[in-house]
Amino acid sequence: MEFIHQVVPYVTGNEARAVSEYILSGGWLTEFEKTRDFERAIAEFLGVRHAVVVPSGTVGLYLALLAAGVGPGDSVIVPNYTMIASPNSVRWTGAKVRLCDVESGTLCADLEKASTDRRTKALMYVSINGRCGDMDVVARFCRANGIFLIEDACQAFGSRWRAKALGTFGDAGVLSFTPHKIITTGQGGAVVTDNEELYREIVKLKDFGRTAPATDWHDRVGFNFKFTDLQSVIGIEQMKLMDFRIKRKKQIYARYEELLAGIPGIKMLPTDLGQTPPWFVDIILPSRRVRDGLAAHLKERKIGTRPFYPPISHQEIYAGYPEGAFPVSESIAHRGLWLPSSIGLKDEEIEYITDAVRAFLS
Ligand SMILES: Cc1ncc(COP(=O)(O)O)c(C=O)c1O
Repeated sequence: MEFIHQVVPYVTGNEARAVSEYILSGGWLTEFEKTRDFERAIAEFLGVRHAVVVPSGTVGLYLALLAAGVGPGDSVIVPNYTMIASPNSVRWTGAKVRLCDVESGTLCADLEKASTDRRTKALMYVSINGRCGDMDVVARFCRANGIFLIEDACQAFGSRWRAKALGTFGDAGVLSFTPHKIITTGQGGAVVTDNEELYREIVKLKDFGRTAPATDWHDRVGFNFKFTDLQSVIGIEQMKLMDFRIKRKKQIYARYEELLAGIPGIKMLPTDLGQTPPWFVDIILPSRRVRDGLAAHLKERKIGTRPFYPPISHQEIYAGYPEGAFPVSESIAHRGLWLPSSIGLKDEEIEYITDAVRAFLS
């Protein structure tokens, strides 16, 4: 059997044909009409007014924060269990990261443990692995505290809460299109919003701070964070299979749930597959030692896995919190493992993987 990677992108021949057709048509490769088409496809899919594509999810988070006016002297609440780009994007603005613990059922920010002060300007709500808490409560928390809600939905494209797409509850939502996401353009991301003012500011910031398109007058120090039509052509093809991608992610998760049920020591998080196609299949083991032992056992059997992110408070760049300050994230992050989760994963492979997991834990 070939090595089963933890995740590989799902790409069909359609992307190659579309790219070839586009190049032969004389397209200029950089951001232009294909990018507008890709943005329209994203916005339509989510039911949101605007989507602005950018070079990465990290850049999307940074631009959303800047457009909301976050900067030096401010603070932003970020969950202690997330990918490093969430707090880093806050740091880039010059604002302070204000960590909060997560709920054990969703691994998303536990707002009962979140606090604000007069410098707090935003909550970055991360719908980790496509799950979320009660989004009405999240929105109410931000309204009550007079702060922006920026959704880091980089792992949640295709997930919903009560039928409304994640990424569309806040002032802005951010998606990512790296190869391990539900759709990919190699690298890439998008900021989505219904807010005209934020939208205009993000478009301006990514295009050198131009006062209008195609002028060389600038009233803000902007960046070159443009996308490329070359990538958009791929993104448009990837979007065409979105329904299939979501369906297959749900089937894969359901099959794992069925085959892993009853194996001692494995915990899976409650997941509403009606709303959420989990990005990765995640399991929680009794200890770090068991988690690392299982990963080594699977690797010997040609099965790739990936440990959960360490808690942000354990990274030396965000150190300064006493051990035990965030008990849930500190406990779970070191015990979690992502199993192979590619859209192209075959049912026989899931059986082979779960047999190997059972053999180790029984
Ligand atoms: C939760 C979360 N936020 C932000 C990012 C950053 O996205 P990108 O890699 O596109 O910059 C990721 C990427 O995996 C992510 O998982």
